[in-house]
Amino acid sequence: MKKLTPYFLGLASMCAIACQPQSDQKASDGKLSEAEIEARINEILPQLSIEEKSAMCHAQSKFSTPGVARLGIPELWWSDGPHGVRAEINWNDWGYAGWNNDSCTAFPALSALAATFNPDLAYIYGVALGEESRYRKKNVILGPGVNIYRTPLNGRNFEYMGEDPFLASTLVVPYIHGVQSTGTATSVKHYALNNQEDDRMGVNVQVSERALRELYLPAFKAAVVDGGAWTIMGSYNRYNNQHCCHNEILLMDILKKEWNFDGVVVSDWGGVHDTKEAARFGLDVEMGSFTNGLDAQLGNFSWDDYNLAKPYINAIKKGELPVADLDDKARRILRLNFRTNNGWGPGRMTCPDHMKTAHDVAQEAVTLLKNEGAVLPLDPAKKLTIAVIGENATRTLVKAGGSSELKPKYEIAPLDGIRNEFPNANIEYATGYTSGPAFYGFAPAPKEDQAKLKAEAVELAQKADLVIYVGGLNKNYQQDCEGGDRTAYELPFNQDALISALADVNKNMVVVLASGNAYSMPWIDKVPAVVQAWYLGSESGNVVAEVLCGKINPSGKLPFSFPVKLEDSAPHSFNDPMVYPGVDHQEIYKEDILVGYRWHDTKGIKPLFPFGFGLSYTTFDVKDIKVSNTASNINVSANIANTGNVNGAEVLQVYVGKVDSKVARAQKELKGFQKLAVNKGASANANISIPVESLKFYNEETKAWELEKGKYVVYVGTSSADILSTTEIEL
Ligand code: GLC
Repeated sequence: MKKLTPYFLGLASMCAIACQPQSDQKASDGKLSEAEIEARINEILPQLSIEEKSAMCHAQSKFSTPGVARLGIPELWWSDGPHGVRAEINWNDWGYAGWNNDSCTAFPALSALAATFNPDLAYIYGVALGEESRYRKKNVILGPGVNIYRTPLNGRNFEYMGEDPFLASTLVVPYIHGVQSTGTATSVKHYALNNQEDDRMGVNVQVSERALRELYLPAFKAAVVDGGAWTIMGSYNRYNNQHCCHNEILLMDILKKEWNFDGVVVSDWGGVHDTKEAARFGLDVEMGSFTNGLDAQLGNFSWDDYNLAKPYINAIKKGELPVADLDDKARRILRLNFRTNNGWGPGRMTCPDHMKTAHDVAQEAVTLLKNEGAVLPLDPAKKLTIAVIGENATRTLVKAGGSSELKPKYEIAPLDGIRNEFPNANIEYATGYTSGPAFYGFAPAPKEDQAKLKAEAVELAQKADLVIYVGGLNKNYQQDCEGGDRTAYELPFNQDALISALADVNKNMVVVLASGNAYSMPWIDKVPAVVQAWYLGSESGNVVAEVLCGKINPSGKLPFSFPVKLEDSAPHSFNDPMVYPGVDHQEIYKEDILVGYRWHDTKGIKPLFPFGFGLSYTTFDVKDIKVSNTASNINVSANIANTGNVNGAEVLQVYVGKVDSKVARAQKELKGFQKLAVNKGASANANISIPVESLKFYNEETKAWELEKGKYVVYVGTSSADILSTTEIEL
């Protein structure tokens, strides 16, 4: 028997691997280079039996996969989620293990991170999340999610980075670099076309290859090619009538061949339906396929009944499936094992740095949508009677919502934050509406109670000097929650009537709304100030209050459009169930490449609030806008002066559109942006360089990206609708 080399000597002294691709020599900090990892894998692989290789390819518990005990290859631990490390789950069922040392930092939702338009924050966010994952001894954190925001009804838009592929691509790369710099693997999800929760397990998405390539894949491509993601998670739905967890086009042709992905494809939990496809079409690790590993559930009886377990081994032994596929899976899984077990530090958990990161991201995410008569910021010195109204002023927005839910070390509620920042005020609270218990199934308060709650709130508002309303969506089922889409575009729980009734009795009113989705605002003309507060995590109440009192000058920008009404948004404009949510598990993305502001601009449908929009407590003067181009780049420069009396930050955005294109195109597409902090009275220069390559469209005939020669228009502005200059250039 060949002497076995001890490959994994234990965390402390373990031979190690750099987190980024290294050249052949040893990495400086004593970690193995990628080349040395490959050498180790080449030694190990021939020693593994088919059973050992197959075992690594499927779950041994709800959130772990086996290693190879006799060789000292450790098991791998996987954990949700994108916004923080989820509380420990039981070995064999979905229940929580009830630990008392697994409370985490709840970071803002990724829709909030997207609203910051700040790639540097995305990196810092990733580092903090990676450190908490390390401390919880997780090899893989199951995030980020980068599915494109197609419909405002999608229950999981709060977990994703908005409607624009360039914005999502620009933020997902530093997030991945941050997480993986700690030795934790990311799992970029859900690959691909998981743009709704209704029928998510079955719907077959029919979309043009051009829209797939130009809208739905770019963030995943950036995650792999630029981000170096160590794992990708397949989605539940189908494409080309094949489940995305074992999809030949998406996983073999595009991900592994065209993009040279060298990591692990993990299924979504229970997303695997066919052994042969799973074996041949790119799946590496099968999780959660409807068994608790112990007894019969939906026909499976144990971990050995996973598609990639006994059925796979038997098929190989019968010569029905080649062992080469299994070797490739095992190679990728060993690579993940070496990359994440590599002498990395122990990480940190709920430390002041992480709380600061949660706060920093939150403060740059809050988006000021309206501020008529500068009602905001409020003066905390005034002895006012303030009526705080709305369930979201006190309700947890970190628990529930599905797999991204967290057990936070703390979560500051807006009411508490407001009490802290307005010590001189007489603050009174009325819930105004209730939405029932969190998570699946909720029973809004019975009608009579709602009327009573509303009457109490209106009475409080009538007597107050100022009303601060805190409402929005929440993480209940069919709100911002996994497993089902919203059933209406309006705010739930009769909030529109309540907000309108409050505005009728008190004009001095600020509306703060938490959500990860757009919603209609029929009361918008009756309310002087509106703040979009996202889901901000542990620090939410502090940040909301700091924005209201002016300690923070909001700088967030909308990562998705707010249509006036649902029918104004692309998929709903067809009023055709085939376009959304699909019929008999078939769905056709008839809007093709025109999603979000692309649709609004090109169809001339004015949104209530446009993509990229957000106000400030100060004013900016953007001048000296210069646009030039070479054969390879478009260069935009401008000077941004802060002409107000508080420090602030602005996001200069550059969109490009083709004149007289030979193919259908959106009027303009975001191709560059830069966020600049500018102190009052000062100015700063923006410089944005756009590679001409990025103007290519995907030609379905030639199956290639193509740069059209001719005229383009370069739009420079502070939102997709606030365009300050247009310049025609020739390429
Ligand atoms: C869920 C989600 C996925 C999550 C996984 C594990 O169904 O779709 O995002 O990471 O299962 O909880």
